[in-house]
Amino acid sequence: MGTLTLAETQDLHTNFYTFEGVVRALNGVNVVVQQGETYGLVGESGCGKSVTVRSMMRIVQAPGRIDSGRIVLFLNDQERARGIEIVQRTETYMESIRGSDISMIFQEPGAALNPVLSVLEQVKESYQFHRMEQMIEETLAAMDAERSRRRRGSLRGAGAVIQAALLRKELAATRRFDERVRRIDNELYQLETSSDTRSEERKADLNRSRDHARPRTGIVAVARRIPFLRRYRRRLDATVRAHVVELLRTLGIPNPENIVQRYPHELSGGMAQRIVIAIALACHPTLLIADEPTSNLDVTIQAQIVELIKELKRTIISSVLFITHDLGLVAEVCDRVTVMYAGDVSETATVRELFRNPLHPYAVGLLASVPKAEQAEELAMIPGAVPNLIAPPTGCRFHPRCPRRMDICVREKPDTVEHTPGHWVACHLYTGKDGGHA
Ligand SMILES: Nc1ncnc2c1ncn2[C@@H]1O[C@H](COP(=O)(O)OP(=O)(O)O)[C@@H](O)[C@H]1O
Ligand code: SF4
Ligand SMILES: [Mg+2]
Repeated sequence: MGTLTLAETQDLHTNFYTFEGVVRALNGVNVVVQQGETYGLVGESGCGKSVTVRSMMRIVQAPGRIDSGRIVLFLNDQERARGIEIVQRTETYMESIRGSDISMIFQEPGAALNPVLSVLEQVKESYQFHRMEQMIEETLAAMDAERSRRRRGSLRGAGAVIQAALLRKELAATRRFDERVRRIDNELYQLETSSDTRSEERKADLNRSRDHARPRTGIVAVARRIPFLRRYRRRLDATVRAHVVELLRTLGIPNPENIVQRYPHELSGGMAQRIVIAIALACHPTLLIADEPTSNLDVTIQAQIVELIKELKRTIISSVLFITHDLGLVAEVCDRVTVMYAGDVSETATVRELFRNPLHPYAVGLLASVPKAEQAEELAMIPGAVPNLIAPPTGCRFHPRCPRRMDICVREKPDTVEHTPGHWVACHLYTGKDGGHA
């Protein structure tokens, strides 16, 4: 069975430059999300799950930054089959793929929503930013249909002709902009593999012109400022609104026509999280990243949101990267899973394989602490806590807590080995190096 990579990180190092010192949050992280799968990322709080996905979206906040490593995306277009490295790409480029190719649902629905904008305004943005062309085309089609029903020569008819003409201008401008950006991206992509030093200058030029490319110019920019002419925008807004209402309906939100007018503070926690999901899904991303999407919701709502994500995975999203500290949830929703500890990837396997045969002592400990229905006694907890990553432990970062620690563990970071096909582990028990007991 062939699998295709959708996104991967290669030896990723992300650090935070704080007053206390440098927090070495990611210590060479390699994760691979395959096309079509639900991939889980687990580990205790502070292990680097959020920093990993924030790096993948290029939204690590100051004082953090990606210091080395690569992030390669293999999105659907044919031309991108070789993969696009995004650590080096501009912020404008990232804006064009965030929300349309990769989207993220955050842990705190409250923080992800803007308190002063209505639900409609928040979900709408994504359509306006990424699907403008389609929205204009649909509006024009609706206006055409209307015109053919109405008598010719009326004053309203004349207004409609002007509005349609302006919309066509806007459509042409949008297409020109998209085409221009596509050309720049193509050339950048071609240059990526070139080692010619002159290509560095060219790349910088291209990145600059991409940053300065603007979608609206000329008559369209003027029309937007004149109230009478601006009316054509209302037609467009109606199209977008219809899409937003339909999306909310798909997400099982009752009475969506009413909900779109509400503000975040008027929504329950579960409803707010559904709106966050709606924003993330507005452009049918190829990859949906869900960072502990249910951890602040009560149990019933939690179950509903998990069901919703599973359902969406079956219908409209191709791949999901699901972060949680709850192994029960992993078993329920994921195909494959990576266990992280203190900025390192400890183990990666299919969920079935990991539960049946965990190899890394940290994974073994985590699994032992999952409550099982038949065993109500005390859970085995892993003694100790995730270390402060300003001064992380030497060698294997898990060594201070590891029941199977050897001498070599204190000195050397273990390589990752493929223990059995598809089952990867980073631990000296499996690297074949002579350990010696500590
Ligand atoms: N803004 C920040 N400033 C300093 N350190 C940070 C910041 N964000 C995350 N970290 C550190 O990075 C490490 C990984 O954090 P995080 O990815 O949020 O963990 P997880 O999502 O697995 O709970 C932690 O040691 C955390 O303290
Ligand atoms: S490398 Fe050593 S310390 Fe780390 S998990 Fe394996 S046995 Fe334990
Ligand atoms: Mg987190």
